Amino acid sequence: MRTQVCIIGGGPSGLLLSQLLHRKGIDTVVLERRSRDYVLSRIRAGVLEWGTVELLREAGVGARMDREGFPHEGTYLALQNRGFRVDFKATTGKQVMVYGQTEVTADLYAARDAMDGVVIDEAEGVTPHALDSDAPFVTWHKDGTEHRIDCDFVIGCDGFHGISRPSIPNSVLREFERVYPFGWLGILSETPPVDDELIYANHPRGFALCSMRNENLSRYYIQCDVNDSLDAWSDRAFWDELKRRIPGEAAERLVTGPSIEKSIAPLRSFVAEPMRWGRLLLCGDAAHIVPPTGAKGLNLAASDVHYAYHALARHYLDGDGEGLERYSEQALSRVWKAIRFSWWFTTLMHRFPDQTEFEQRIQEAELEALEASTAAQTVMAENYVGLPY
Ligand code: FAD
Ligand code: DHB
Repeated sequence: MRTQVCIIGGGPSGLLLSQLLHRKGIDTVVLERRSRDYVLSRIRAGVLEWGTVELLREAGVGARMDREGFPHEGTYLALQNRGFRVDFKATTGKQVMVYGQTEVTADLYAARDAMDGVVIDEAEGVTPHALDSDAPFVTWHKDGTEHRIDCDFVIGCDGFHGISRPSIPNSVLREFERVYPFGWLGILSETPPVDDELIYANHPRGFALCSMRNENLSRYYIQCDVNDSLDAWSDRAFWDELKRRIPGEAAERLVTGPSIEKSIAPLRSFVAEPMRWGRLLLCGDAAHIVPPTGAKGLNLAASDVHYAYHALARHYLDGDGEGLERYSEQALSRVWKAIRFSWWFTTLMHRFPDQTEFEQRIQEAELEALEASTAAQTVMAENYVGLPY
């Protein structure tokens, strides 16, 4: 087999890049380790920056998002039991879209199928080769047979635990990491959201977040010990704890019900440099991880895809390699700003195990300063709605 661009990983970044390139007449093959059902059942991000919205539209997958997604013009931040609103629209002229990653992935698979795009699932032992040569290739097993595809470029869209990043030699790869001493316990429930906007709450008992997917599907998170067992968190215990951490009037309005999904996620900041080595480009979680507090993970994957897409289109359509030369530097410049924002927002909103009273007062003062200053809110909003590409 031969293709121009071999993409490892059929999550949102791999599918979106494949869809964008195909529409420019550039041939791709996507290799995904899991089954399609597995990929489509993962519940993850929920908030799209406007740049992501526009990229999805450009990829021809915006129609259902535009019909069923919910534009949000602001969010609430709460301190103990009071809240204030940050108005994205008034401060930046921009907004975000609430539309689940599950839906984005389903729309991308449907679009790939409609164009006869090649997405090979359940590909085992995917291995890239000769990435520092002009003739890279990728091998894998499926149904007991070994397969090989030759290509011009390999794009690593295979997430944090993928094979692409470890294919860069140790002498070249640099990794930067912060692991946070807590996790997020998240549930999905078929109940109406407590508010029509998100609520991010700082509370002495720990952080809480009220989010949503639609009028009858809510997503809630509370800070927990990353080693907690899910069995220790009955639905009842979750709802009781959430109510303690959000403003009283929201707690009174909260409609509870059985959870239909419940999981604990660890929080980390991580960046790998460079994002390009020879004929390999990394996109999305394969190159970086953010703690979820600023809703940046999926959006950063989309901005990497934007840079990789334009670099590859320039190479194939204009014979100009400059975009590929600059890919790592361009993508990393935006990545580090999102890493900074997610670290800041995480640090501001969570209770750390060894937090002193001094540090707690600083958090409170910073939230009060944010409430009092339109300038400070503008900086927060600019980052939340997404920095320009
Ligand atoms: P992924 O979605 O990880 O996709 C990578 C794909 O590659 C997967 O389908 C995987 O099966 C495949 N793969 C891996 N290894 C191989 C291999 N060797 N060969 C072939 N295929 C391979 N972000 C937010 O903004 N908000 C959230 O609330 C949020 N919650 C999250 C919860 C969890 C549990 C996790 C893990 C992430 C969460 N994120 C969240 C982050 C967000 O979901 C990711 O940033 C986003 O999925 C990145 O997309 P991606 O395509 O780069 O990687
Ligand atoms: C969601 C997740 C986030 O991390 C966030 O900051 C906002 C919303 C969500 O899953 O809805």
